[in-house]
Amino acid sequence: MALLLLTALLVLSGLAQGWDGGILMPTEKESKLSGKEEGVRWAVLVAGSYGYGNYRHQADVCHAYQVLKKGGMKEENIIVFLYDDIAHHPDNPHPGTIINHPHGPNVYHGVPKDYTGRNVTVSNFIAALLGEKEAIKGGSGKVVNSGPEDHIFIYYSDHGGVGALGMPTTPHLYAGDFLEALKKKHAAGTFKEMVIYLEACESGSMFEGLSLEDMNIYVTTASNAEESSWATYCPGMVPSAPFEYDTCLGDLYSVAWMEDAEIQNLKKETLRDQYLIVKSRTSNHNTYKAGSHVMQYGDVHMTAEPLELYLGFDPATEDATDPVLPESGRTNTLETRAPEVVVNQRDGDLHYLWHKYWKAREGSTRKAEAGMDLVRTINHRMHLDKSMDLIGKLLFGSENGPSRLSAVRPRGQVSVDDWDCLKNMVRAFESSCGELTQYGMKHMRAFANICNAGIDATKMATTSAEACALSAFGSEVWHPVKTGFSA
Ligand SMILES: *[C@@H]1O[C@H](CO)[C@@H](O)[C@H](O)[C@H]1NC(C)=O
Repeated sequence: MALLLLTALLVLSGLAQGWDGGILMPTEKESKLSGKEEGVRWAVLVAGSYGYGNYRHQADVCHAYQVLKKGGMKEENIIVFLYDDIAHHPDNPHPGTIINHPHGPNVYHGVPKDYTGRNVTVSNFIAALLGEKEAIKGGSGKVVNSGPEDHIFIYYSDHGGVGALGMPTTPHLYAGDFLEALKKKHAAGTFKEMVIYLEACESGSMFEGLSLEDMNIYVTTASNAEESSWATYCPGMVPSAPFEYDTCLGDLYSVAWMEDAEIQNLKKETLRDQYLIVKSRTSNHNTYKAGSHVMQYGDVHMTAEPLELYLGFDPATEDATDPVLPESGRTNTLETRAPEVVVNQRDGDLHYLWHKYWKAREGSTRKAEAGMDLVRTINHRMHLDKSMDLIGKLLFGSENGPSRLSAVRPRGQVSVDDWDCLKNMVRAFESSCGELTQYGMKHMRAFANICNAGIDATKMATTSAEACALSAFGSEVWHPVKTGFSA
C-alpha cells in the first residue's frame, strides 16, 4: 500500500513537472517516443531587413527553413520572421521564388508566414522566444513553447552595428535587451541548450564582454565587434548571381553554414566542426584577404555536440563522408580555391541600385528612377556621415572629435556601459537628423562612445540639431519606404 502511494506521488509530481514546463504538445510526445533524442527542437529564424537591395537576408532565412525542414523539424516548431516583400517584388525576375545560390532551388516554397511586414518587431521576437503568447501583437501567434529538455536554435541575418541588430521596423534589437531575454528564458528553465547563429556587421559586439557563461547558450557570429560582414553571390562577382538578378543572393557566413549542413551527416558533424568550416570559408581560408572573423561566445564546451540536436538529420545524408576540417590541410568541397569576391554588407543596396541602373535601357523610366535612387542613397549616406562627424567635433573639439567617435575598446570589453543610454542617444540623434536607417547603424560605435564619455541625451539632442542644420544635405527629406529599400 505504501509502495502504491509512493508510486502515485511520483507519477503526480512527474505530471506536475510536465505542466510546469508548459502543456505537452503532440509533437513533443512523438519525438520523446521516437527515443532519438530527449526534448523537442525549436527554431526562430529572423530576417531583419526589407527591400529588394536586401534580398539576401530573406533568402538566407528561407533557406534556413528548408535546411531545418529537411532535418525533420516540424513546422509548428519553426517560427519565421520575414518581411516578405521579395518573392513578389517587381524587380524579382522570377516572381514567386527566392534563391540563395546562383544555381540553387526556390527556397521560398512552403515557408510559414508567422510574422511578416510590420509584424516583424523586436517585441514580437522577444515574446516569441520567451513563449509569451499574450505579449504577441499580430502575426500567427506561434511562440517557442519549450520545455526543460528542449533545444533551441536561433538564426538571424541582417544589417547590424555596435550593440544592435537591425529590424525592418523600429526599434532595433539592442544587445542589452537580447541578453535580458536570454537570461529570462534561462531562468524560466524552458530549454536545455540553445545555439545562436548571427549574421550582421559587427555582430560580435552583441556578445563581446557580456557574460553568457553557464547559461547553456553557444553563439557564433559572422564578424567580430569591429568589422563588416559580407554579402555573396552578387551580380558580376565570382561566383555571380545569374545575370537577371540585380541583387546579392546570400551572405557569406550564412551560406557557409547552410551549404555545409546540407551535405553533412549531422549526427556526426559537431558544432565545433561546423564552426571551423564556416570560419575558414568566411575568411578566405583563414587568410582574411576577404570576409570577416567568425567568433564564438558562451558555452563553448557545448561544441562537442552533434549538429543534429539543433538542425535535425536528413536521412539522405546518412552516407555522407566525414566533414573535411580546414586544419586537415585538405580542401573542403565547398571552398573554392579562388577567394570568393564579396560585397560589404552595407554596400549591398548601392550594388543593387548600380546594377539596376546600368542594365536598364537608355532613356527608360526605370533607368531614371534607379539613377535617382542611387544618388539619393549616396546623398543620404553623406548626410549621415557628415552629421556624425560634426557632432563629434562639436562635442569633443575638431581635433579630437573623429578619434573619440571611432575609438574601439580592447577585446573582451563591452562596447557600451549603459544600454539605455545607447538607445536614448539614437533617439536624440533621430529627433533632428531623421531616421538612422540601416546604413546609419555603422555609427553605433560613435553613439556608444558618446555614452561612455558621459554625455547626456539632452546635450546630444541639442548638438544633433545644430549639426544636422549645418550639414549640407540636412534639408533633404528621406523616405526609405517610398523608394522601396532601406539604407
Ligand atoms: C499582422 O498580423 C495580423 C494578425 O495575424 C494580420 O492580420 C496582418 O495582416 C499582419 N500584418 C502584416 C503587415 O503582415
